[in-house]
Amino acid sequence: MHEQRVTGGTGFPETVEVGTLGHAPTGLWLPAKVPTAAGGLLLAISVGGEDLAVGLMERAALSLAEHLPLGLLNILVIDYSVHNRFKVLSSLRTQGLYRIAYKDAEARALLEELMDAARERHHHLLNDRCPTLTDYNRAHPDYAQPFTLVLLNLDDYLKRADRYDSSREGHLRDFLTAHFAAGIYLIAYGQDLASVDWAAGLLKVTMQAAPETPDTPPAATLLLADTAPDLTGLRAIIADYGLVHACQSSDSARERAAALIARHAEAESAEADAVCVTIGKTPDGREPIDFALGRRSGCYHALIVGASGSGKTTLLNNLILGIGEQYGADQIRLYLMDYKAGVEFNAFAEHPNCEQIYLDNTDTGAAERLLEHFAQEITRRGERFRDQGVNDLDAWNKRQSADPLPRLILIIDEVQRLFSGPGAYRFNALLKDITRRGRAFGLHIILSTQTLMGAELDRELLTQINLRIAFRLTSEADAERVLGFGNHAPLKLPNYHFVYNSHAGDRDKNIQVRGAAPRSIPEVIAKINADRPDSQKIKPTIIASQGASHPGGEARDPGPAGPVPDWLAWAPVQDRQTEQEQQRRLLEQARNRLAPGHAAPVPDQGTDP
Ligand SMILES: Nc1ncnc2c1ncn2[C@@H]1O[C@H](COP(=O)(O)OP(=O)(O)O)[C@@H](O)[C@H]1O
Ligand SMILES: [Mg+2]
Repeated sequence: MHEQRVTGGTGFPETVEVGTLGHAPTGLWLPAKVPTAAGGLLLAISVGGEDLAVGLMERAALSLAEHLPLGLLNILVIDYSVHNRFKVLSSLRTQGLYRIAYKDAEARALLEELMDAARERHHHLLNDRCPTLTDYNRAHPDYAQPFTLVLLNLDDYLKRADRYDSSREGHLRDFLTAHFAAGIYLIAYGQDLASVDWAAGLLKVTMQAAPETPDTPPAATLLLADTAPDLTGLRAIIADYGLVHACQSSDSARERAAALIARHAEAESAEADAVCVTIGKTPDGREPIDFALGRRSGCYHALIVGASGSGKTTLLNNLILGIGEQYGADQIRLYLMDYKAGVEFNAFAEHPNCEQIYLDNTDTGAAERLLEHFAQEITRRGERFRDQGVNDLDAWNKRQSADPLPRLILIIDEVQRLFSGPGAYRFNALLKDITRRGRAFGLHIILSTQTLMGAELDRELLTQINLRIAFRLTSEADAERVLGFGNHAPLKLPNYHFVYNSHAGDRDKNIQVRGAAPRSIPEVIAKINADRPDSQKIKPTIIASQGASHPGGEARDPGPAGPVPDWLAWAPVQDRQTEQEQQRRLLEQARNRLAPGHAAPVPDQGTDP
C-alpha cells in the first residue's frame, strides 16, 4: 500500500506533484513539482492524450489530499462528459472529498458559491497580516478553513449551447483574480484550441499532454510562463529533463485513494461529536439516526425546513429532551425561541439544561438582542482562551476541567418571521458572524422554518450551516434553496419523514429518516430531573415580554436579553439563589398570563429583576 505522507500543517502545499520528469539520455527521473503559488495550471490535451492528462490530474489531486490534514481539502470537478473521467478520484466521494457538477446550471451555482466564499474570506479572514488562507490557517490552526481544488473542463464551461460565451470568460477571469489567496486552486483542462488559448493568457503554468507515438511514450510538456514563480528551480530542471510522464499506473493511484479512505475512517472513529442525539430511524426501522453537531460530523449549526404539520417541532422537542437525557448543564445549555404561537417551548420550563425560554412571539428584537449577547460571549471566550493559550472549547475544557464552559445552543422555531421585514438584514449579519465564529467556542444555532421562499436568507449564511434537514416540501425551488442544486428528495417524502444531510445539501449525501414519534414532555423531564444531581440543573429565565415589540432597526435597549447567568458574568455563586427565586416568580407570572381566560397583565418589571 502506498505510504501515507501527511506532512501536516494547515497551509496549502507549496508545490503540487503532477508526474515525473524523465531524462531520456541517462534514464534518471525526478518528481515534477509545480509551484502552487501560480494559482493553478492549464492542461492542454492533444487528441489521444486524455488518459495521460487524467492520470496527471488525479495524481496532482491525490498529492494535495495526502499533504493536507483531513477535511482541509475539497475537490470539485466541473465536467459535463457522459462517462466518469475521474474513476480514482470519484471513489473519494463517500468521504465527502470529491464532488462533481456535470450539469451547467449546477456548475454555475457551485462556482458562484465558491466565489461567495472567497469574497467572505477576503473580507473577514484575510488582511495584511494574513494575506492568504494559508497564512490564516497557520495563525489559527484550530479554526483552519478548507481549501478547494477545482478541476474545470474549459471546453464545457466556456460554452453555452455549443457556442463560446464571453460572459463565462469574464466570470472565470474575475474568479481567477482572487481565488488562490482565498484558498482555491484551479486545474483547468481542455482540448479545444479556443478555450486553451484563452486560458493560457491567465494561467502561468501550462502542460501539453500528448499521446504515445511509435518513438515516444505518452508524455506531457511543461511550460512555465516568465511571470510564474519558480520555487524549486523548476525552469532549469525542465530544461534538462524536458518531458513529464504520468509514470504511475492507475493501480497505484487506486491504492493511494484507498489509503486516504482508510485514514478518514480511522479519524472518524477517533473523534467524537459534542452533541449526538437519536432523532429517528432509517425508513426500514432498522438503524437509528443521530442528530450530530461537532468535529466528527463537521456540522456546527443546523437548518430545518418543512411544511406546517410535517413534524419540525416534534423533532426539536425530541432533540431538546434527548439533550436533557444525555448532557449535564455544565455541558450543554439551551436557549429556546418560538416565533409561531410563542408558547410552545413553555413546556420546557422545568428542563434542567434550559438557560432562557422566550415566550413573546411578537418581540422580534429579542432574537437580535440574544444574538448580540452570543456575539459578546464569543469575544469573551476568545479572550479567556487566548489568555490560556487554548484554541477551542474542547481544549479549554480539557485544561480547565474544574471550570468547564458549556456549549450554548440556540433553537429558533418558525424563524421565517425574522428573515423577512426590516430587521432581516441585521439578523442575517448577526447570524453569519455567530455561525462563523461560534464553532470553536461552542455556540451553535438551530433554525427551523416552514419555507425559505420569500425569506431573505443570506447565501453566505447558508454556507456556514452544513447540517440541512428537510421534511416534505412542495416546490423544487424551495428544496434547492434548503439543500442544493438538483436535490429534490424532499418532494417525495412520506409523513414525518425527513432528509438528513450533513454535507451542505449535496444530493449524493441524503439520508432519509423516519422521525421519532412525539414523547410526553412532562414525563421525560420529570425523569431527567429525578435522575440528575442538583449541581447539574439550572432553571431557565422565562422571557415573557420585553414590553412593546421591537421591529429591527428601531432604537431599543441595548442590554442583554435577560439576567446574565453567573458563568457568563462571573458573578458570585451565592447570588444565584436570589436570581433563581426571581426567575421562579417570573415563570409563575408567565404561566398565569398564558392560562386560558387569564389575561393577567404583564408586570412592569418585565424581565428586569
Ligand atoms: N414522527 C412522528 N410520528 C407521529 N406523529 C408525529 C410525528 N411527528 C409529528 N407528529 C404529529 O404531527 C403533528 C404536527 O407535528 P409538528 O411537529 O407540530 O409539525 P410542525 O412543527 O412541522 O408544524 C403533531 O400533532 C404531532 O403529534
Ligand atoms: Mg411547529
